Amino acid sequence: MNESVFQGPVRLTAERTVIRQLTLDDAEALVAIVREEPEILPQTLQGVHDAEALAHWLTVSVPNGQRFAVSLHLAIADRGTDTLVGFLGLFKVDTTHDTCEVGYALRAGVRGRGHATEALRLACDWALNDCGLHRVELRTLTDNIASMRVAEKAGFRREGVQRGAGRHQDLVMFSRLATDAVADGPVRLVGVGVGPGDPELVTVKAVRLLQEADVVLVPVLAPDEPGRAESVVREHTAKAERVVFALNDRGGVTPKRAAAWDAAATRVLEAFEKGARTVVFATIGDPNVYSTFTYLAQGVRAGRPDVVVETVPGVTAMQDLAARSGTVLAEGSESVTLVPLTAGTDGFRAALATDETVVAYKFGSRASEVVAALKDAGRLDDAVYGARLGLPGEDVGPAAALDGPVPYLSTLIVPGRRTGRGGKL
Ligand SMILES: C[S@@+](CC[C@H](N)C(=O)[O-])C[C@H]1O[C@@H](n2cnc3c(N)ncnc32)[C@H](O)[C@@H]1O
Repeated sequence: MNESVFQGPVRLTAERTVIRQLTLDDAEALVAIVREEPEILPQTLQGVHDAEALAHWLTVSVPNGQRFAVSLHLAIADRGTDTLVGFLGLFKVDTTHDTCEVGYALRAGVRGRGHATEALRLACDWALNDCGLHRVELRTLTDNIASMRVAEKAGFRREGVQRGAGRHQDLVMFSRLATDAVADGPVRLVGVGVGPGDPELVTVKAVRLLQEADVVLVPVLAPDEPGRAESVVREHTAKAERVVFALNDRGGVTPKRAAAWDAAATRVLEAFEKGARTVVFATIGDPNVYSTFTYLAQGVRAGRPDVVVETVPGVTAMQDLAARSGTVLAEGSESVTLVPLTAGTDGFRAALATDETVVAYKFGSRASEVVAALKDAGRLDDAVYGARLGLPGEDVGPAAALDGPVPYLSTLIVPGRRTGRGGKL
């Protein structure tokens, strides 16, 4: 057997997809594939029908887990669950010309989610950049439009039709060379919600983005002052950079605010100029709930319309307060009204006049007005309050105990008036 150009172990990851060696943990999924979709099994796995056969196949095909036979058969797995979703093979390796062919197959239920493009791109980047190959070939049937799109998205170029080359049918030949320039896909600005303060209330997706991003920005009031999202972000990545954001300026779009937003947008655009592909901007709570991210995204889009803007949801302060105070936010047919008190208590009073749930944000300096409004509505005794949730100095208790101004990071829940179990159904 020739010494392979492929050296292991292999584990390559993209946003949604991993390609890696098959393991015994894949046995269950493999058995399901054998039962339901045997046509997607690569030839080398024909006859591998159960865990025992897989164990044997693994010892024969991946000795020591380090060296592979001349052709290489990898598992395509979903990155979130590590479940086997298909197979990818690099085969027909020709070490005289440094070429090989690539093929893949995905389970029917997972198609159209980007796994094929990511797997193909990962495998070819690796074969061409790390394994010394110069050309990877890919052949598809002439009517397989989806496969041709995937090939092009993964950087392959169409060469022409090979007549009768695939079981008497015509095939389209695509190739990618080590010297081809392959577009890297769009640059991304991602607003990542990191929850109210507790580093454990950060989603798995947020942690992955914080760790994978080329640049992570956290908004702060002043360059030397720790940001509200910063302590959470630093629990998950060391690469947080502060960006001054004039968070507490009042009175609409003040010149100070506008200048800070523009400066932050310029900072993001510079990061892209220097080669960053993904810039993350971390915000407390959720990036689509009263978050500064919205203003940053508008500035970045104005400077560079091709930037793809995305958000990752985060746990909001009201959800955290509900959990920490044992308060149900909504039952049955109840509504929840979220009111910021920046501009006064009128909206809050109007919401309290209903029997529904009311949540107040941004009332730090207006705590006594809030208490007065609750008293007037006869709802003070039901209301709960939480300051600095999940952060040092956290304070959770009945709103009736409030006395004087409270921190900016304070949230209040007035639960809907309820009559008994299921009363609001
Ligand atoms: C600019 S808004 C940001 C909201 C955030 N994006 C969210 O999804 O919860 C700031 C307000 O959120 C609430 N808040 C955010 N984090 C909090 C925390 N750790 N404790 C209490 N309230 C918090 C407060 O009402 C604060 O005035």
